[in-house]
Amino acid sequence: MPRVAFDELPAAARQAVTVQTGQIAAAHTTGGGINSAIAALLDTETGPVFVKGIRADNPQVASQKREIAISPYLPAACPGLLWHVNAGGWVLLGYEAVDGRHADYTTMDDLTLVLAALAELQEVTAPDDVDLKTAEERWGKYAEEGQAGLFAEDALLHTDFAPDNVLIDRGRARLIDWAWPTRGAAWIDPFMLTLRIMEAGAPAVRAVSLVRRVPSWRQADPKALGAFAVAVARLWREIAKEDPVPWKVAMSRHAVELRTLLLATS
Ligand SMILES: Nc1ncnc2c1ncn2[C@@H]1O[C@H](COP(=O)(O)OP(=O)(O)O)[C@@H](O)[C@H]1O
Ligand SMILES: [Mg+2]
Repeated sequence: MPRVAFDELPAAARQAVTVQTGQIAAAHTTGGGINSAIAALLDTETGPVFVKGIRADNPQVASQKREIAISPYLPAACPGLLWHVNAGGWVLLGYEAVDGRHADYTTMDDLTLVLAALAELQEVTAPDDVDLKTAEERWGKYAEEGQAGLFAEDALLHTDFAPDNVLIDRGRARLIDWAWPTRGAAWIDPFMLTLRIMEAGAPAVRAVSLVRRVPSWRQADPKALGAFAVAVARLWREIAKEDPVPWKVAMSRHAVELRTLLLATS
């Protein structure tokens, strides 16, 4: 989705933000991410704030609604949601601004921080009063018959560890972009991180040796990991077939490599 500058928003939308933040001195569109039509750091009377948003009539507005609903339950590793408004035909979310850069999964320093943030997240149980998709719903149709139940548990999962969804800020990793909060087995998040570490160039064996630091991965039933790897490889094959851009084709290849490794040990 092409990014729109904050200044291009209708006056009613900008006004609704100003009510929250006070006068806005400057707005800088940020890089990274593809789903939000607007993503900008605002310099405001009440301090810096990050705003993301989408048109209220865009079907993807559902993901903004999920982000809003899950925000009270997120650990400190995630920047806090300060406010949200629906005005001038836009849904806009205001977050604590993080003065950071995207994670680099080729460096041990960043990986150590990301794994620490993930460990913090793993303590969180999926809340009952938020209508979350379950892991079975998301990946079950790609699983072998009777295997989807292996993905079910009550952890709160992020599921999208693309490096531009992790900001490194003063010795800490902050997890952003909760568009896909999910209820499921805790080891699913380290699995998703494994694929992204592979995307950054690591072979599957190396990526798995890193996520083994996460207790849920070490405790996972190897059969469940294998079954999930089968489902995820099928999903990425479908994604890459529908839209064979290089990064999707590469993700599909990594998913197959990880499947091969995990089936060999399941
Ligand atoms: N709280 C924040 N503070 C500073 N920058 C942020 C913050 N949240 C997101 N960003 C920046 O904006 C980009 C897009 O935000 P994200 O929530 O990932 O939206 P998208 O849905 O477009 O992927 C991120 O990759 C990051 O660079
Ligand atoms: Mg993003």
